[in-house]
Amino acid sequence: MGVQKLAVACRVLALCLATIEATNPGFVVRITQAGLDYAHQHGIKVLEKELGQLKLQDISGDFRILRVGKVRYEISRLHLRSFQLPHSYISLVPNVGLQVSISNAFAELDGNWRVKVYFIQDHGSFDLKVENVYIKIDLQLGSDTLGKPTTDTSACSTRISKVRVHFSGKLGWLYNLFHGAVESRLRKLLETQVCEIVAKAVRRELQPYLRTLPVTAKIDAKTGIDYSLVAPPTATARSLDVDLKGEFFSLAHRSAVPFSPLPLALPPDHNHMVYFGASSYFFNTAAFAYHAAGALVFNVTEAVIPKGVHLNTTTFSAFIPQLEGMYPNTPMTFRLSAPSAPFLSIGPQGLSLQPVVDVQAYAVLPCSESVPLFLLSLTGNVSAVIDVRSGHIVGSLDVGRIKFTLKQSNVGSFKVRQLQSLVNTIASAIVIPRLNERLNEGFPLPLPERIQLSKILVRFHQNFLMLGADVRYQPRG
Ligand SMILES: *[C@@H]1O[C@H](CO)[C@@H](O)[C@H](O)[C@H]1NC(C)=O
Ligand SMILES: *[C@@H]1O[C@H](CO)[C@@H](O)[C@H](O)[C@H]1NC(C)=O
Ligand SMILES: *[C@@H]1O[C@H](CO)[C@@H](O)[C@H](O)[C@H]1NC(C)=O
Repeated sequence: MGVQKLAVACRVLALCLATIEATNPGFVVRITQAGLDYAHQHGIKVLEKELGQLKLQDISGDFRILRVGKVRYEISRLHLRSFQLPHSYISLVPNVGLQVSISNAFAELDGNWRVKVYFIQDHGSFDLKVENVYIKIDLQLGSDTLGKPTTDTSACSTRISKVRVHFSGKLGWLYNLFHGAVESRLRKLLETQVCEIVAKAVRRELQPYLRTLPVTAKIDAKTGIDYSLVAPPTATARSLDVDLKGEFFSLAHRSAVPFSPLPLALPPDHNHMVYFGASSYFFNTAAFAYHAAGALVFNVTEAVIPKGVHLNTTTFSAFIPQLEGMYPNTPMTFRLSAPSAPFLSIGPQGLSLQPVVDVQAYAVLPCSESVPLFLLSLTGNVSAVIDVRSGHIVGSLDVGRIKFTLKQSNVGSFKVRQLQSLVNTIASAIVIPRLNERLNEGFPLPLPERIQLSKILVRFHQNFLMLGADVRYQPRG
């Protein structure tokens, strides 16, 4: 191999490795056999309805009967009375996709017949019973360039082992002489038609439905979530797994996330229809996006603090005696901001973070100029309670004891400790409730339209949160 070729190969390999590394999902969705069974129930109902609208073309032909001669026949106005799919199941085909097997389906049709033998003509009606219909449908799942799921029938076969026609009318006996030929034509016609309808139903119903999965969802004025598929869904022996990017982004300026998701392996639970795995990456990109969007800044003014507490230099001169002399009876404000996005971790005990918050105090002069007074740096252990409500991950935070240090002062030194109860009040009565208000609205889970979740399970594992749920589909109308 030439040096140049080697260099190209190395670059390609490096690119591949980089790609492999980048495709760890931030969020995974697992659909268990129970979930597939549930989806299958609804799918079969749709297919039954579609098959019920099956239209068969007229058929005609010639037939030669001993001692009678050439018989010209026509079958027209074929009308399907019903198509029933009483037995079916869906199964996982590892590394391939899904297979739907329908057995002992049956249909009833009627129609008109017409025959012509020399100059004799007659017509009548007939009933057709189709039994022992076996249909096998292979569904292939994929993802497109937008990261939306795709699906298609990769194979379909229909086998009808029993067709019975009963012709009535004066010359019905004639038909009954060659019914075998007519039956086999009708059977072939039906066999192809059924698979065409299956393919059409998948394209027209299933595919558009799957594409209602919001792969990029704007979730509020500041951020969105990228739920695009990072790979085609994979079928294993027990579940269908869908790897999603699972990344929050700032709507104003989406930037590359400076960390990447760790591998996420859901435990082999299967009691619920669906499981979601939200990696710590998912939550950390949330913090990163909100921080980038400037949403982690709070102004604390007298207007937002509990009544009776005055945020002014008179109040603070109890802790900082020199303040009253420098800015007599002057209103104060505090600006809380996170110098960097808080980083949270998830372990079996739950979700926790130790955010660092800068608190800059200002005196607001009569000309409304803000003069910086001092800067505190706060930290504390924050824990979160997580739940699922209306298809959203909701949460609430709780903060333990807050530690703080004086980072900088323009008003000389003072005993910082004395500010403890004020700092506690700011954190627990102002900041946490405001964050919780937002967290209580929650963040949407990646769900296609008209899905409701119930029987919610919340479990923490190393580096990810696992949610389990059963689903209910609300048909339109
Ligand atoms: C906070 O107050 C500063 C002025 O002190 C202002 O520039 C900023 O927009 C305010 N931020 C918020 C989030 O209200
Ligand atoms: C400042 O706070 C004190 C109580 O600490 C209060 O009596 C005073 O009215 C406040 N001043 C202003 C301008 O709000
Ligand atoms: C947070 O918790 C850890 C251990 O759980 C402890 O070492 C640390 O001091 C705590 N931090 C604060 C600010 O309380």
